[in-house]
Amino acid sequence: MSGNKLAIDGGRPVAEGAFPAAWLGPAEIGEEEVEAVSAVVRSQRLFRFLDHENSQCSKLEAHFRNMTGSQYALAVGGGTAALICGLVGIGVGDGDEIIVPGYTYIASPSAVLICGGVPVIAETDDSLTIDPDDIERKITERTKAIMPVHMRGMPCDMERIMDVARRHDLRVIEDCAQACGGSYRGQMLGSFGDVGCFSLQQFKVITAGEGGMVVANRREVFERAAIRHDSAMCFWNPEDTTVGPFPGGNFRMNEMEGALGCVQFGRLAGILARTRELAKRIREAVADYDGLQLSPSHDIEGDLGISIALLFDTGERAKWFAQALRAEGIPAGSMYDEGIPDRHIFRFWEYVMEKRSADPHGRPWTSPLHDQTREYSPDMCPRTLDALGRTVTIPLAQTYEDRHADWIIRALGKVAVASE
Ligand SMILES: Cc1ncc(COP(=O)(O)O)c(C=O)c1O
Repeated sequence: MSGNKLAIDGGRPVAEGAFPAAWLGPAEIGEEEVEAVSAVVRSQRLFRFLDHENSQCSKLEAHFRNMTGSQYALAVGGGTAALICGLVGIGVGDGDEIIVPGYTYIASPSAVLICGGVPVIAETDDSLTIDPDDIERKITERTKAIMPVHMRGMPCDMERIMDVARRHDLRVIEDCAQACGGSYRGQMLGSFGDVGCFSLQQFKVITAGEGGMVVANRREVFERAAIRHDSAMCFWNPEDTTVGPFPGGNFRMNEMEGALGCVQFGRLAGILARTRELAKRIREAVADYDGLQLSPSHDIEGDLGISIALLFDTGERAKWFAQALRAEGIPAGSMYDEGIPDRHIFRFWEYVMEKRSADPHGRPWTSPLHDQTREYSPDMCPRTLDALGRTVTIPLAQTYEDRHADWIIRALGKVAVASE
C-alpha cells in the first residue's frame, strides 16, 4: 500500500509500475496491417484510381459511409486536407468568416485561411467544446459556417449548434479529427453538419500513418470536395457531375494508406469499447469524491473515453493537482500553461494572432471582401483560457489493464483527500 502521505511530499507513489504509452490505433498495429500493406505493395497498384471500385481507399470510404450513415465519403491525404476539401465543399471562399473554437489544433483555422476565409474565434465552455452562446455573439453578415471541433473525443453541444446554424442559415463543418467513432445522443459525429472531416494521422484513434476522410450527404458538397482533392477529377466523368470544373490540388489517399486504414477501422469498435469501459469505471468510482469534479460533458455516452477530464476552481489548484498525480505515477497534465506554446490553444496560433500569410499581398487578410478592422489578441477568449487552465486530464488507452484504472482511482482519492 502507498499510505496517505502524498508522493509529492516524499510518500510512496500509488502506481506500482509504469503506464503503457497512451497509443490508440498505433498500439494495435500488427501482422494484419503488415500483410494488408504488403499485399498492396506486391500488387504494384499503389494508385487508388487504377481500379476505383475495388480499391482499398474505396473500401475505407464505404466503412465511413456506414459508420456515419452518410451518402458520400471521400478519402484524402490528411485531416487538414479533409477540412480544406470540406470547406470548399460548402462553398467557402474570399470574404467568408468561419467560427472556430479557441481550443482546437491550429490546422482548423489554417484550413479556413487556405480557403480564403478568415477564422473567427469563439469561446469554449467548461467541457472544452465550442460555446453555442458565443457562436451566436460572433455571427456577422460575413459568417458562412460554424466549425465545431470534438476535441479529445468529446462531443460538442450539437443540438444547440445546429439550432444556431438553422436560425442564421449557416453551414456546419464538423472537425472530427480527434473523434472517430464518437456520437451525440445516439447519432454519429460527422453526420450532423453539411460535412464531417476525420484524420487518420499517427496520434488519432485509428491511423493510416497519414490520411483523412470527408463525409457529406449532399452531392454538390461531395463533388466540390472531390474536385478540390484532385486537379483533373472534374474531367473524368463530366456528364455525371453537376458542378462545373475548377482547379484542384492533390489530396489523394494512396492504396497503402487505404489498406492500413481498413484494418485499423476493423479495430475501432474494440478500442472504443475498452476505453469507454475504463473511463466509466473511473468516473463512477470517483464521482462522489470530495474535492474532485469531473468536467461536464454534452454526452458522456458518446464520448470516446480516451481521457478523464477534471475541473478545478482555480488554475493554481489544477496545476498542483496534476503535479501531485504525476508524483503518484499517474500520467496527468494540466491543459494550459502560459510558458508552453501548445498549438491547440488559440493564443499560440501566431500566424492567426499576427494575421500572417504566404501571399506577398497578405491575402486573405487584406481582401477587400473581409472586415479589415478584425483584430486578434492572445487574451481575446478569456473563458477558454480559464477553462483550460482549470482542467486536468488523464489520457486513457485500450492498452491499460484494470490495475492501471485502479491506480488512477486510488491516486485521485489520495490526492483529493490530502488537498481538502
Ligand atoms: C482537431 C484537429 N483538426 C485537424 C487536424 C489535422 O489533421 P492532420 O494532421 O491529419 O492533417 C488535427 C490533427 O492533427 C486535429 O487534432
